[in-house]
Amino acid sequence: MKNLVIFASGSGSNAENIIRYFAQKPEFCIKKIYCNVPDAYVLERAKKYGVPAQVFNREEFRNPEKILHHLQEEATDFIILAGFLWLMPPCITAAYPYRIINIHPALLPAYGGKGMYGHHVHEAVIAAREQESGITIHYVNEHYDEGAIIFQAKCPVLPADTPDDLAARIHELEYRYFPEIIEKTILNTEEEV
Ligand code: GAR
Repeated sequence: MKNLVIFASGSGSNAENIIRYFAQKPEFCIKKIYCNVPDAYVLERAKKYGVPAQVFNREEFRNPEKILHHLQEEATDFIILAGFLWLMPPCITAAYPYRIINIHPALLPAYGGKGMYGHHVHEAVIAAREQESGITIHYVNEHYDEGAIIFQAKCPVLPADTPDDLAARIHELEYRYFPEIIEKTILNTEEEV
C-alpha cells in the first residue's frame, strides 16, 4: 500500500481528479488533504469523498514539526502538490526527497518562480504572445518550481485566448496526465529502491 497526501490551496479540481483516479486503485490510499486556506473549495471536495482534511496557518507552516509529525504518523510515502501556493519548508523537502510532486501550469523553466501561479501564469504567457504553453510535473525541492522535471505536455495558445480560455485548456491536460504520471512515478521509485 502506498500512502499519498495532497496539499492544495484553492478550488481543488486536480485534487478531486486524483482522489477519483486512485479510488480505483486498491494499492494506493489518499490519506489526507492538507490546506492552508480555511474556506478553500478543496475542503468541500475532501468532505464529499470522505477524505480527512487538515487546515494549517502560516505560523504552523513556518514551524512545521507538527505537520511533519502528522505526515509520519500517516506513514506518508508521497506528497502531491495540486494547486498549493506556499513554498515547502526545508525540513519537509529534506524528509521527502524525490517524494514530493508538483504540477505547474506552464512549461518550466519558463513562467515559474515565486508569484507565478494560476491566472498569473496564463496572463504572463498571453502577454508574451507565446504560441504554446502546457503543464510541467516535477519533483519539489526547497526552491519554487526548480526540482527535476518528470513530465511535460504542450498545448497551443490561440491568438484570441483570454487567461480563462488558456486555463481551461491547461486544466484538461492536468486532468488527463497528472494522476497517471503520479502513479507511474511512484511505481518507478519503488522499483529503484
Ligand atoms: C492548477 O492549474 C495548477 O497547475 C496550478 O494551480 C491550479 C489549481 O487548480 N498550480 C500552480 O500554479 C502552482 N504554481 P485546482 O485547484 O482546480 O486544481
